[in-house]
Amino acid sequence: MARQVIRVCFVCLGNICRSPTAEAVVKDLIDKEGLANRLKVDSAGTGGWHVGEQADERSRAAAKARGIAVTSIARQVREDDFDHFDYLIAMDQSNERNLRRLAPTKEARTKVSLFRSYDPLAPEGAEVPDPYYGGENGFDEVFDICARAGRGLIRELKKKHHLDADR
Ligand code: 4NP
Repeated sequence: MARQVIRVCFVCLGNICRSPTAEAVVKDLIDKEGLANRLKVDSAGTGGWHVGEQADERSRAAAKARGIAVTSIARQVREDDFDHFDYLIAMDQSNERNLRRLAPTKEARTKVSLFRSYDPLAPEGAEVPDPYYGGENGFDEVFDICARAGRGLIRELKKKHHLDADR
């Protein structure tokens, strides 16, 4: 029997800073843990202003400095993403509200969570801060938060879905 594949979509506002970083960092963890056949990741934005663009060069530089390539091309989240994905994970509370509004059913709404709810150092309701209009530091901070929350997310998914590494 084919084993279940879990699909995760990270969602921010523009899909050029935070969610592409989350996607790349978590993909790296998935590959390192040998879980690439069980866990698939993507990202999208609630807004459409940057559709078709590469991630912000500051996000790409912050990740590259840690050996991670951010390669996603921006797209806008759609209602049918709730059919395709098991988890839609928001970077901040505004993204979370917009996703819940877009969810077509009550069940779809339960697929929405906040990324930092998986961050063991974060208080309830904590957000990944939007770095777009801030300084360079903001991009390093986003990377570090994504790495910590990403590790927490993988831990949780492994436990919840009984994921074993590929053999
Ligand atoms: P992101 O950051 O949501 O992390 O991709 C932003 C990117 C662009 C804009 C806002 C936030 N913008 O207003 O264009």
